[in-house]
Amino acid sequence: MRKRTWFAISALTFLPVGLSCQSQQDPVVISVDAAHPGAAISPSMFGIFFEDINFAADGGLYPELVKNRSFEFSEPLTGWHEVLGFSKKGLDPPKGELSVRTENPLNPSNPHYLKVRAYETGYGFWNSGFRGIGVESGAEYRFSAYVRSGGPKAIRFTLTDGSGHEVGSGKLEGFDDHWKRYETVVRTTATVQHAQLNIFVDETGQVDLDMVSLFPVDTWKQRPNGLRKDIVQLLYDLHPGFLRFPGGCIVEGRQLATRYRWKTTVGDIAQRQTIINRWNDEFDQRPAPDYFQSFGLGFYEYFQLAEDIGAQPLPILNCGMACQFNSSETAALNQLDEYVRDALDLIEFANGPATSPWGKLRAQMGHPEPFHLTMIGIGNEQWGERYVERYKVFAAALKTQHPEIKLVVAAGPLPSGEPFESMWSTWRTLKADIVDEHYYMSPEWFLANTGRYDHYDRSGPKVFAGEYAAQTAGMTRPDNRNNWKSAITEAAFMTGLERNGDVVQMASYAPLMAHADAWQWKPDEIWFDNLHSYGTPDYYVQKVFANNTGTRIVPVSPQADGGLYTSASLDERSHEYILKVINYATTSRQAEIRLNGIRPSGIARVTTLTSADLSAENSFEYPSAVSPESSTMDVTSAVIPVQLRPYSVNIYRFPAQ
Ligand code: AHR
Repeated sequence: MRKRTWFAISALTFLPVGLSCQSQQDPVVISVDAAHPGAAISPSMFGIFFEDINFAADGGLYPELVKNRSFEFSEPLTGWHEVLGFSKKGLDPPKGELSVRTENPLNPSNPHYLKVRAYETGYGFWNSGFRGIGVESGAEYRFSAYVRSGGPKAIRFTLTDGSGHEVGSGKLEGFDDHWKRYETVVRTTATVQHAQLNIFVDETGQVDLDMVSLFPVDTWKQRPNGLRKDIVQLLYDLHPGFLRFPGGCIVEGRQLATRYRWKTTVGDIAQRQTIINRWNDEFDQRPAPDYFQSFGLGFYEYFQLAEDIGAQPLPILNCGMACQFNSSETAALNQLDEYVRDALDLIEFANGPATSPWGKLRAQMGHPEPFHLTMIGIGNEQWGERYVERYKVFAAALKTQHPEIKLVVAAGPLPSGEPFESMWSTWRTLKADIVDEHYYMSPEWFLANTGRYDHYDRSGPKVFAGEYAAQTAGMTRPDNRNNWKSAITEAAFMTGLERNGDVVQMASYAPLMAHADAWQWKPDEIWFDNLHSYGTPDYYVQKVFANNTGTRIVPVSPQADGGLYTSASLDERSHEYILKVINYATTSRQAEIRLNGIRPSGIARVTTLTSADLSAENSFEYPSAVSPESSTMDVTSAVIPVQLRPYSVNIYRFPAQ
């Protein structure tokens, strides 16, 4: 197997920037040219990058609790165990046998199912879930399965904790010899982080099972096949401008055969074909052989999520190239029809009338109204001539048939050098709409690059800072931290994104989330386990920026000077000037904010995110250790004295009048 060779980027290769001490004599003056608001800031400026990495989908946002519910993993009994964990002392468990079969399956996309042979009554087996099954006391869970049985007429199930104590039970019954779906709801009596699901057959004979599911009833907006509430709440609270999905390298696949194909992820969940997840064995240091994609969270659910959280949908499609870090397999130019067709049909699925073939499916799934798709990514992190040739094929079809859709193109995996420069030169020549830049760099790089976009061509393609995160140890290093240093340096950098909001249309931290017991990539914006989730300091930086984005850029000075980083905007909706000031220094300092050209009066709202300790982190135990504080202050003149705490992100919303 060929392993991914990442470009080596070390935190140590960048010069440290920032101050250890400042003169406390004179206040630093921050001048906001309030009378001269400039260009418009994109309304979708700060958004979300979602990828199914770190068990972010199955085992995370998609709250199915049964692992390998459809018996389609490469090892089809993965997650399933023949011998009951808790047989009564001194007694042999009842005998039986499990096998995975393919004759007369549930449907052709789901060719494997489980045949259970109970030789003795009470034969049982169990599912271990995604690193255990998390259940809450008093909550309801829907247990369901497709069953076919010529013999036993019922199956019984229990949920047990680590000591074998039962915390819930139920039964499915009334089977016949045709596949049918049965369901019941169980209310659990205790909170258990690592429960197991046990299934018993109380009559001898054979029974076939498929799509065995245990799913919380209480999902986001109470949707069946809905999403995990606590995690969506964190996303919703960001007020993200856009949702990029489904990745990331997962779009590309290690080979084309395992690329992401959106058409296999919509419609009935029992018809969605499970495939391997490309992060399954990407990194030797974090193998996850049980990592597959059920696509229970598919393109319909992504569009629905985007709508629910008020974000513009941004799907990324395969452009006929597998990951260039892996096989780099490339579809021939004369074989791109299927790929281009996928893009055209996706537009119909999202925006077409309910009478069109793909619009009809959307309507049948519950959303007759369009999803208002306005942009699509062609390829993920691609580069090189082969990519450009393929992009041209897509662009020819899409720009002719859907000139209203903006196309996002890639600039490779690095933020400078080759292939970044040649890709940008090509995109300028081709007048591409939006170019996706990625930077997984050191915190020092983020501080040193706050002016990155100050001199970008205003008439060229727009920028999508599509994946970025400060790497405290180095890219793909498992010892990277989500600490205050990574977060505050990202905040400093984001002032530069906002000051250039006429060029930078969108920006998103990456990756978005990780299961604490099953991650592959660090750092990540949100961490979760089977029951809990929390935002990192990096999450709170994203949140305070996304929650405080104006509609027009306002000139401010200084912009990046002596450990101080600023951006200013006017919010024409709330009639407020928004000033962001990052103090990257060990000491607090006095500042004097001057709102030139206006006479503000009223209450200013202040948000402060700070820790004197750059190594501070949030955790399951202390999820809000580094989190925003809100306050207000009376403003009676255009000169406003403020105190900036050490290592602080300060956001002021001043009344415009
Ligand atoms: O965010 C993790 C990975 O980093 C993404 O999948 C890929 O686009 C980038 O290389």
